Amino acid sequence: MNALATQTVSIDLQTRSYDIAIGSGIFDQAATYADLPNASTAVIVTNSTVAPLYAARLQQALQGKYPKIHTVVLPDGEAYKTWQTLNLIFDALLSHTCDRKTVLFALGGGVVGDMTGFAAASYMRGVPFVQVPTTLLAQVDSSVGGKTAINHPLGKNMSGAFYQPLKVVCDLDTLKTLPPRELSAGLAEVIKYGPISDLDFLSWIETHIDALTARDPAALAHAVKRSCEIKAWVVGQDEREAGLRAILNFGHTFGHAIESGLGYGEWLHGEAVGCGMVMAAHLSKQLGLVDAALVERLTTLIEKAGLPVKGPKLSDADNAGRYLELMQVDKKTEAGAIKFVVIDGPASAAIRSAPELMVRGVIDLCCA
Ligand code: NAD
Ligand code: GLY
Repeated sequence: MNALATQTVSIDLQTRSYDIAIGSGIFDQAATYADLPNASTAVIVTNSTVAPLYAARLQQALQGKYPKIHTVVLPDGEAYKTWQTLNLIFDALLSHTCDRKTVLFALGGGVVGDMTGFAAASYMRGVPFVQVPTTLLAQVDSSVGGKTAINHPLGKNMSGAFYQPLKVVCDLDTLKTLPPRELSAGLAEVIKYGPISDLDFLSWIETHIDALTARDPAALAHAVKRSCEIKAWVVGQDEREAGLRAILNFGHTFGHAIESGLGYGEWLHGEAVGCGMVMAAHLSKQLGLVDAALVERLTTLIEKAGLPVKGPKLSDADNAGRYLELMQVDKKTEAGAIKFVVIDGPASAAIRSAPELMVRGVIDLCCA
């Protein structure tokens, strides 16, 4: 990719405000980290796939600023987003006698980012951390906004904390090494922002979907920047998801059921969200909120992004019943009523429950 001018998106959260730097060739430059507080120790948390690609370069960039730098390499995969893996981070922090000023650097995708953030939120009741996302999904969504978590076998992201990073560094060059399937997964979260808040952006993605899948640098730069702007605005209004922020979960109620139902890692998070958005669009239509044209438009785009649009069978006996059972374990569920993010107008989303028979009908229609 050619060098692109670095752009900054700011997230306004009073004392917890920070910048998201988006550029090319920035994650391994000392200047990128010059504004961070000084400390005796920095700890890079990464995984076994990303470490050989990028950890030494990050370490070199941090060398002048932090006298001691340690690297923790976690096993790779959604299946490892667990207490056991989280404990590996605590083991390293304690064995290196890291103090409260130690700065953690999350180098990797959303799994590393969510776990490092949770470790930072809880080690000694909170130490500073920086997100250096290296997947498209993490650059457009998970590294921004301070949600951190690990999974439980019974439900996704069920233990965690709201804890904001000091800074987010999105280096578009790192996307060069991303496998195509992971790029598509990231595009699911990019597409999400269109129907929930910006129809012009949805049209732009439709026009540029081939450029995005071909990793055109300018197209990726715009997709990351606009996604971060929308997410920063939503989180700035509702940091701890009292209401509005839930719209960022469009497609996630169905998607999380797919992820936990199949076993974490079988489908990628972005694949499950892509298919979940198709299901949520159908539900929006069944509720009389949108017409068939929007369902068709979204389905076509999600398919063009290289994502599945038919849900997997989670049970031979009662597939819809199994989805419903899994969707009960969702943070939006209230008094047993499953809540869905639905599209209720042009660039507008709302949180609704729906009659069980209607949800069953949508699952039957959308599953292979
Ligand atoms: P991931 O972290 O598993 O990364 C995907 C794969 O790409 C992994 O195998 C990883 O090792 C590899 N990888 C990472 N960067 C690479 C690079 N530059 N080159 C080559 N390979 C690379 O998955 P993800 O899609 O980044 O994140 C999904 C996770 O994010 C899920 O756990 C999801 O729940 C979470 N998430 C969190 C939020 C939030 O707000 N906190 C939002 C969305 C998703
Ligand atoms: N990815 C959903 C959120 O950050 O709220």
